[in-house]
Amino acid sequence: MNKIAIIPGDGIGKEVMDAALHVLDSIGLKFDYKFGEAGDEYFEKYGIALPKETIDLVKSSDACLFGAAGETAADVIVRLRQVMNLFANLRPVKSYPNTNSLFDNLDFMIVRENTEGIYVGQEEFIEDGAVAKRIISRKASERIINYAFNYAMENNRFKVTCVHKANVLKKTDGLFKETFYNIAEKYPKIDKEDFYVDATAMYLLTRPESFDVIVTTNLFGDILSDEGAGLVGGLGLIPSANIGEDAGLFEPVHGSAPDIAGKGIANPIAMILSAGMMLDYLGLNTEAHKIDLAIQEVLKEGKVLTRDLGGNSSTMDLANEVIDKYNEI
Ligand code: NAI
Ligand code: MG
Repeated sequence: MNKIAIIPGDGIGKEVMDAALHVLDSIGLKFDYKFGEAGDEYFEKYGIALPKETIDLVKSSDACLFGAAGETAADVIVRLRQVMNLFANLRPVKSYPNTNSLFDNLDFMIVRENTEGIYVGQEEFIEDGAVAKRIISRKASERIINYAFNYAMENNRFKVTCVHKANVLKKTDGLFKETFYNIAEKYPKIDKEDFYVDATAMYLLTRPESFDVIVTTNLFGDILSDEGAGLVGGLGLIPSANIGEDAGLFEPVHGSAPDIAGKGIANPIAMILSAGMMLDYLGLNTEAHKIDLAIQEVLKEGKVLTRDLGGNSSTMDLANEVIDKYNEI
């Protein structure tokens, strides 16, 4: 039985985690769950946000589900990504019916390099300002680009788009782009193209349906994936995955939402879809697909919706509706 580290964290993190675990349980999936603490509440009690026991727990597990942290999010999730070397950040951009999605038929994946670029945090003050280092290594570029092509192969995707700014950042993004085309040769069945990041920001608005898999460096991926979230509307809907060589951590994109925490009204869909991404990672693809279909059905019907989606149902009502629809498929 797979061992899963569960870190509910703070605020609605706990509520949506309860809902997601209830769904997994009710559709007959059994895992060896081990709970770990992290986040603001833990910090207030013990003075650290991410204890060593929780790091060890994640390291010894087959996968990790993370809810959300509050103000300590950077100390928790950014640190977990580092210590676990979770080099690929996956953000699906997928439109669901009856949501604030600006488009009806979007379904693409943004694969963001998660370990280097400008986020290496090497900044210093100079005489009249400050400089930040932007590191693009051949090794990390190869790793993320290979990941994107393999992802495309395994998920029946037809194209990978490399996003960069190699006209200005000739050395760093030049290397990223060159690596992309070198690796692309190994995948003759997959179409390939590259765009500048500024043009991509526009294409995401003008013709988002033309994208399939996007691979890019850390900062560009951060920005474009939030743009992607904006395209399909609503933080309560968007899951993500952080993948390493031998580890996977799955989390909704949203935070602890203190404004609605404790009321039982948070939308659990982002967390349930994150659990679905974990099932895919663990090879339970049929179940993952059925969860996705069940959520589409719930939204299409529009009878049981949380407030952010215009309804007045509770977190658990929505989770139960997903279970009912799952069982009808
Ligand atoms: P947030 O995502 O917590 O909330 C933004 C807005 O979206 C709020 O109005 C909230 O009610 C709403 N919202 C978010 N998730 C929702 C859901 N599932 N259902 C219904 N409505 C939802 O982001 P915010 O307000 O910027 O940050 C709040 C706290 O969360 C901060 O302490 C921040 O540091 C932390 N945070 C943690 C993250 C993480 O753990 N990965 C990510 C983003 C923020
Ligand atoms: Mg971001």
